[in-house]
Amino acid sequence: MLFSRRRKLPRGRKLVCCTLLVIVIFIFYQIVTSFNDEDVEFDRQWTCEELKAKDRLVKLCKDFTNGNTGGNLCRDLCTSGELVIQDCLAHKNTTIVFSGTWRKNDIVFKTKRRPHHVENLEDVLSIGVSDDEPTAGDEQVYKKFVFHVFDHVQNELSFFRLKDMIGSEQQVLELLWHPHPLGELTWADMSSLWRLIQRDEFIKLQLLKEMKHIPRVYGFCGSFYAVEKVETIEGFSFTPFKRPMPWKKRLNAALDLLDLSKEFTETPLGQLHHCDIQPGNFGVAKDKRVVALDIDSMFGTKQMEDFLEQPTCESDAQCDFFDCVSACNTTENKCSRKILTNNLQIICRDILLSYWGQPGLLQRAPIHAQNKLSPVLSDCASDKMLPWKPGKIEKIYRKLKTILSEELVSN
Ligand SMILES: Nc1ncnc2c1ncn2[C@@H]1O[C@H](COP(=O)(O)OP(=O)(O)O)[C@@H](O)[C@H]1O
Ligand SMILES: *[C@@H]1O[C@H](CO)[C@@H](O)[C@H](O)[C@H]1NC(C)=O
Ligand SMILES: *[C@@H]1O[C@H](CO)[C@@H](O)[C@H](O)[C@H]1NC(C)=O
Ligand SMILES: [Mg+2]
Repeated sequence: MLFSRRRKLPRGRKLVCCTLLVIVIFIFYQIVTSFNDEDVEFDRQWTCEELKAKDRLVKLCKDFTNGNTGGNLCRDLCTSGELVIQDCLAHKNTTIVFSGTWRKNDIVFKTKRRPHHVENLEDVLSIGVSDDEPTAGDEQVYKKFVFHVFDHVQNELSFFRLKDMIGSEQQVLELLWHPHPLGELTWADMSSLWRLIQRDEFIKLQLLKEMKHIPRVYGFCGSFYAVEKVETIEGFSFTPFKRPMPWKKRLNAALDLLDLSKEFTETPLGQLHHCDIQPGNFGVAKDKRVVALDIDSMFGTKQMEDFLEQPTCESDAQCDFFDCVSACNTTENKCSRKILTNNLQIICRDILLSYWGQPGLLQRAPIHAQNKLSPVLSDCASDKMLPWKPGKIEKIYRKLKTILSEELVSN
């Protein structure tokens, strides 16, 4: 004790002092973390009651029974009970996330913000209002549907080599319907799928389903889809009141995160740029794979460049798209198409080192590891010297991988 030599406090008073100190630290900590929750008003946590989350599920099944909603998981959710919902982990007012199980798999059942404008499938297929309910068996309708789904996916992702990637237009539909066999679709199936693919996360998850670091999708019902449940890296963070995860577990996650950054440089959709890199958007699956669980803000190169160059600017600070940054061309007052950041740099900065003042995955390392890691991590996380020189990604990747792998065998 600091003041023990000066003057001995009676035991009782010591206890009071300690208790007060703990309370002050706790209050201070709460204030600090509440500021860290970004825009407290705009981005606050919503409760499931406020979002009427359970009511959404009841309505979903009612619509399914009435034949207004479809999808390959509706029967399991509403009739057979093979999809069981357990908890609601709601989050923002734009996102509802439930946890549950589907045929022995732990899943989340989630839906995301509504897109700004939804084209009605009837209008897209130009089915007249005078017609009766379009029939599912109608060959013409189905053919048009397949074409429009293909066309939409291609435009949504600005990925015009889609046909080379998959072979035929019909195959996009098979991918979106995965892992269920594509049988005959009802009108409700078609219109629900159409609405679902207006949110591009589902499309990306399905097109990238062969990737190691993308979570598995188990199907959908209405605008909800079921995805492999993972333990988010947010849960790895420690606080004055929570001990860090075991070093070995953090090492494994960090190593796999490196592997993820590598896999994202070469995917079926080309190089992918993740612009929302934070611990809550990555997780560790049951089989220890680290996956990107929130890929709304992950884009292929062409789409990334199109986004980046949209704003007019006077300074570089105006040329960012969340974590993805370009420079301001001050002669043209337009942001450049060239991206300056890269996935590995942002992973180092916002996950491995720290996030909003919270300690990162590799903080509080054993001292010998800390000494080796520090210089590499701060080089990797630095916002200066962007874009990296050719070869720097590989160099940093190798250095980190070597240190982390050595640590792993010696622990
Ligand atoms: N597959 C998943 N496994 C476990 N938790 C998940 C999963 N998907 C989402 N979550 C939880 O829900 C939160 C919000 O989901 P997310 O997809 O990130 O939506 P948003 O776009 O609103 O950030 C995540 O931060 C995470 O805590
Ligand atoms: C979500 O909440 C924010 C702030 O509370 C509000 O501005 C926004 O309109 C809400 N969005 C929806 C879809 O309700
Ligand atoms: C800005 O744009 C002009 C016209 O496209 C181009 O010639 C110039 O090289 C750009 N400047 C920078 C710094 O990129
Ligand atoms: Mg998220």
